[in-house]
Amino acid sequence: MPLDNKNIILGICGSIAAYKSCDIIRKLIKLKANVKCILTAGGSQFIRPLTLQTLSKNKVCMSMFDIPENLEIDHISLADEADIILVAPATADILSRLAYGRADDLLTCTVLASKAKVLICPAMNTNMFNHKATKNNIALLKDYGYNFVSPEKGELACGDCGDGRLARVETIVSAVDGLLS
Ligand SMILES: Cc1cc2nc3c(=O)[nH]c(=O)nc-3n(C[C@H](O)[C@H](O)[C@H](O)COP(=O)(O)O)c2cc1C
Repeated sequence: MPLDNKNIILGICGSIAAYKSCDIIRKLIKLKANVKCILTAGGSQFIRPLTLQTLSKNKVCMSMFDIPENLEIDHISLADEADIILVAPATADILSRLAYGRADDLLTCTVLASKAKVLICPAMNTNMFNHKATKNNIALLKDYGYNFVSPEKGELACGDCGDGRLARVETIVSAVDGLLS
């Protein structure tokens, strides 16, 4: 199996596309990966940790300041154990925070502390995606060596039609597979 024993940290951000993370988890687990989710504050407005925990069969991490069950520091242990950090869906906000090296929540801290591969899958309104600020942030992140699966053109939840729709789950999973094998 291609993803046997691979540790995948899945960051889920505050996008309407957050529900698609359930399908991403299911497909990665079918490929025998070990998936741990980090749910951002924004992400938790769209999807419940109980759903992610049940599907991933792992504790969902949400806050840097939770008292850990053992003596490990969550963002360091997650950063160290990751073979890849997948951020899907990635909001404009997380792109900006990662591009500027912010470390203001568990997901940004984990990415900053990790030497693992990073794969980012943006999802947002077309104007947000085409804004120069977002384009500059993506260029910076590519310069750091982070990988991207571009969003697709299509109908968006806001009613617009254009770039910004989260890439298909199959495309995202095969990009993970490609980076790890
Ligand atoms: C209904 C709704 C849908 C949203 N969808 C998106 C989205 O698809 N992409 C995006 O970049 N931001 C979206 N936002 C804005 C983000 O949720 C907001 O920027 C938030 O701060 C991101 O939080 P996070 O970085 O903790 O995930 C949406 C907000 C709302 C209220």
